[in-house]
Amino acid sequence: MPFAAITGWGTALPERVLTNHDLESMVDTTDEWIVSRTGIRERRIVGDHESTTSLATAAARAALEKAGRTPDEIDLIVVGTATPDDFLVSQACLVQAELGGSAGAFDVGAACAGFVTALSVGSQFINADVYHRVLVIGVDTLTRYVDYTDRSTCVLFGDGAGAVVLERSTEKRGLLSTVLGADGAGYKHLYVPGMANLVPESADLFPEYRPYLQMNGKEVFRFAVQVMGDAAAAAIAKVGIGFDQVDMLIPHQANLRIIDAAARRLDLPRDKVWVNVDRLGNTSAASVPIALAEAADSESIKEGDNVVLVAFGAGLAWAAGLVRWGTAGI
Ligand code: ACO
Repeated sequence: MPFAAITGWGTALPERVLTNHDLESMVDTTDEWIVSRTGIRERRIVGDHESTTSLATAAARAALEKAGRTPDEIDLIVVGTATPDDFLVSQACLVQAELGGSAGAFDVGAACAGFVTALSVGSQFINADVYHRVLVIGVDTLTRYVDYTDRSTCVLFGDGAGAVVLERSTEKRGLLSTVLGADGAGYKHLYVPGMANLVPESADLFPEYRPYLQMNGKEVFRFAVQVMGDAAAAAIAKVGIGFDQVDMLIPHQANLRIIDAAARRLDLPRDKVWVNVDRLGNTSAASVPIALAEAADSESIKEGDNVVLVAFGAGLAWAAGLVRWGTAGI
């Protein structure tokens, strides 16, 4: 079976930084509350000149450059996102419109678990020997759906994009296991009410309609602590290695307390857990690929390392996988 090594990676972040101190002047909150309950100190927020497409395209360009590939060498683009710029056209097609090329292009919807799910989908096209090179992107601009009068949600989210290039390898590299799960019955713990019926014109017809994210934080927290540890453990077990052979955990960056709980479940010391939630908040589908790219750029992961990716989010959905890092066999 061909393997799907990660040969390039890249990220993109909005320019605007929103700090906890900025939020103190917007809602009834404090830096101390936000840091102690979430670990977040600041996040990046899209401006008028930025979009899901602009962030995803910038991350994709950086990943392609790192891999030394051009868009027309890519066979497939898979985007994990919950906030595409168009309801009809896939975000993957919007990115391709910017990049050029004629790769197949489609989206995967699994909210914050979107990138890990898309990585699994993209990898399988290579594992099945259908394609040689796949671009996988995780991107979200969830702050567009955040109510900045609701202190229980507006402190949590940021925007961003991360991308990877997958290439056919003869060595055991790339995603070696996948664990996907969902509890659809729990979807109302984290959703945007009425979103399915939203058309821009309806804002005038239904002024009371607020397309804002709503969340039952306690339920999502309970769910996350459970599934992050269990899914990561299952992804490791599928490859037949022990927790002590894990070199790095790249968890979805939603809340430092959730990340710490997942690390405890896997018995991992803090230096084997990538954390950027303090700087970026919860960037939804972008969180795992941004963290992965940061770990790679700082050479905290090296050829042959076992890297565990795990994410959870709206759905309620979760996704985990074990990546063997490196480009051997390309
Ligand atoms: N500042 C100050 N006080 C606040 C704030 C705030 N920003 N937000 C809530 N509070 C108050 C509440 O009103 C409550 O006050 P009360 O006791 O007088 O009623 C008090 O703080 C405690 O609130 P809790 O909800 O119990 O706080 P908790 O410790 O559970 O932390 C949090 C809340 C941070 C939201 C936590 O539940 C959490 O992280 N949940 C998971 C959320 C998450 O990960 N969501 C993203 C999923 S990924 C995706 O798909 C997008």
